[in-house]
Amino acid sequence: MQQEFRFSTAGRIISGLSAADALSEIVEARSAKRILVLSDPNVARTDLVDALLRRIRDLNVETTVFTGIIPEPPAHHIDELQTHFRGESYELIVAIGGGSVLDVAKLLAVLINAPFQVSDIVGTEKVPGPGIPLVAIPTTAGTGSEVTPNAIVTLTDEHLKVGIVSSHLLPSEVILDPALTVKMPPLVTASTGVDAFIHSLESVTSNKANPVCNAVGYHSMKLIFPALPIAYDKPDDLNARHDMLLGSMLGGMALTAAGTTAVHALSYPLGGTFGIPHGVANAMLLVPVMEYNVGTLREDFAEIAVAIGICSRELSTKERSDRFIEALKKFVRDVNIPTDLTQYGVTENDIEDLTIAASKVTRLLDNNRRRLDISDIRAMYENAFRTQ
Ligand SMILES: NC(=O)c1ccc[n+]([C@@H]2O[C@H](COP(=O)([O-])OP(=O)(O)OC[C@H]3O[C@@H](n4cnc5c(N)ncnc54)[C@H](O)[C@@H]3O)[C@@H](O)[C@H]2O)c1
Ligand SMILES: [Fe+2]
Repeated sequence: MQQEFRFSTAGRIISGLSAADALSEIVEARSAKRILVLSDPNVARTDLVDALLRRIRDLNVETTVFTGIIPEPPAHHIDELQTHFRGESYELIVAIGGGSVLDVAKLLAVLINAPFQVSDIVGTEKVPGPGIPLVAIPTTAGTGSEVTPNAIVTLTDEHLKVGIVSSHLLPSEVILDPALTVKMPPLVTASTGVDAFIHSLESVTSNKANPVCNAVGYHSMKLIFPALPIAYDKPDDLNARHDMLLGSMLGGMALTAAGTTAVHALSYPLGGTFGIPHGVANAMLLVPVMEYNVGTLREDFAEIAVAIGICSRELSTKERSDRFIEALKKFVRDVNIPTDLTQYGVTENDIEDLTIAASKVTRLLDNNRRRLDISDIRAMYENAFRTQ
């Protein structure tokens, strides 16, 4: 019997080597005269924002450009931006950046003119209605945020990252242009790329996996697994960058259809308490969680190993799944993601608090096919220390 599921995604996706040129066509088609352009300081420093603005320069539109978005955004930042932009009658928002910028833009689109704050919409489907149309232009590959109904914010006081999930957060248009991702620093290429792979891996092995998730999730892993090392070693390789953008977009669709599992659940407290970037925290937990999951997911891992081209079907299920775990270790190691938790101020004394915090992320833990109790979670954090 197939799982019941619902699936919706961004309104339109424009992808290709010069996809950014489509921005002017979108603005014209929407007859938008007042546009809010959002980005963050590091992205703005690369000239990406200026280059996109040049594409709409001749359209007689009024643009407000704000490039002060804080990465891994705290909830109070969203409140401040809501107050700052309140009452403005923007007809379109254009977001240029990684998941942090896209998430803030998705939230502002529904919050700018709303009588409620971000704290009122934490959880699932709490946003009462649609916001301002949004063009999402990712510069990392990535979170897949451009096609997900999710936004993630940090509750600073509670040291916790929380998700806001609503179909009203889905962008109206998405532009996937690989040239926008070539200036990512190597660690950002590496960590966001591993995050994208994890989105697909967790979704296809989730309790909620379904035909849509499997179709996009498997294809996403096939694209990302060979493309990430190339994008990391040769940052200007536009084919690898394009495969990464497509893979991360498909990963976003996969997680929308099915949901991520234990890696994401355990990484939330590492981000919320210690500010470890989302992709780095996930990469640190990938192997410990999958070594635990192999007990239940051996068949799945054997299937994925063949799909991503690391072995043939002639090997036994055990051989293939063992190779898959070894390949995951190499995948993370080859792109030099730091594995040393102490580098981010985490000590073994923190394991208990991390364990308790992670055990509360039941929205994602419930998706994990192999059930976890508190001692399993503790053991995975301990393993994350051991594999440094
Ligand atoms: N909404 C979702 O579905 C979803 C899914 C996963 C993660 N997230 C959230 O997304 C955020 C992380 O997003 P991210 O991993 O894309 O990283 P990010 O947006 O935080 O960017 C990381 C760093 O790279 C810089 N950067 C981004 N693109 C660049 C480019 N092309 N050139 C130079 N510098 C660039 C940024 O300025 C920033 O300093 C977290 O808050 C995470 O919780 C959201
Ligand atoms: Fe993620």
